[in-house]
Amino acid sequence: MSRTITFKVFKYNPLSKYSTPQFVEYKLEETDGMTLFIALNMIREKFDAGLNFDFVCRAGICGSCGMMVNGKPSLACRTLTKSFPDGIITLMPLPGFKLLKDLSVDTGTWMNEMSKRVESWIHSDHVTDISKMEDRVEPEVAQEVFELDRCIECGICVAACGTKLMRPDFVGAVGINRIARFQIDSLDKRTDEDYYELIGDDNGVFGCMSLLACEDNCPKHLPLQSKIAYMRRKLVCIK
Ligand code: SF4
Ligand code: FES
Repeated sequence: MSRTITFKVFKYNPLSKYSTPQFVEYKLEETDGMTLFIALNMIREKFDAGLNFDFVCRAGICGSCGMMVNGKPSLACRTLTKSFPDGIITLMPLPGFKLLKDLSVDTGTWMNEMSKRVESWIHSDHVTDISKMEDRVEPEVAQEVFELDRCIECGICVAACGTKLMRPDFVGAVGINRIARFQIDSLDKRTDEDYYELIGDDNGVFGCMSLLACEDNCPKHLPLQSKIAYMRRKLVCIK
């Protein structure tokens, strides 16, 4: 039997002097297989054409639809309304990022800065000749690199992170995972000393308080805590 779902949606436009942060309530009849993507589009169509939220792929791939769903950072396109038995769903923007409007935050600028900070590209010791065969990588190394490369930069691990709340410049599990990806990759010729220069402090790998919320909430189930521990073990030995 269909039921009515109550959505309490955070609304605020930081660029308008007339806007104040508030929750607005909307009610919808639940449909089979209803996701928050479907629900938010219905709300926009029926009640509030000005409601801002971000979606691109609707399939858990683009990473743009992260938001706080009843206090838990989640991908809205992968969240079914039926997972909330009391039928009350509170939606807020992800913390830790610049609020654009309502449920929309700017994760792109943060991710771009993080990528530059960890120098998120292969540091090779030779110029690539594209007319030749690619450099060989052992299959098990390639497999692990592909596994860590599944990050969709959704920002959920950052929003969930207690360390990031205390240390605004913390590079986050996503940044440390990125470094681990290059450290494992035999094509990258950086040494552990080089990685220490990038993340060998309290805003990097030694700042993590091991609260585990990054790994608990990562929608791609990346092994974030074990990669943080791995990099910590590597970098603690640097003299
Ligand atoms: S590590 Fe997981 S939670 Fe963090 S940005 Fe990547 S996919 Fe999202
Ligand atoms: S819309 Fe792309 S991950 Fe949700």
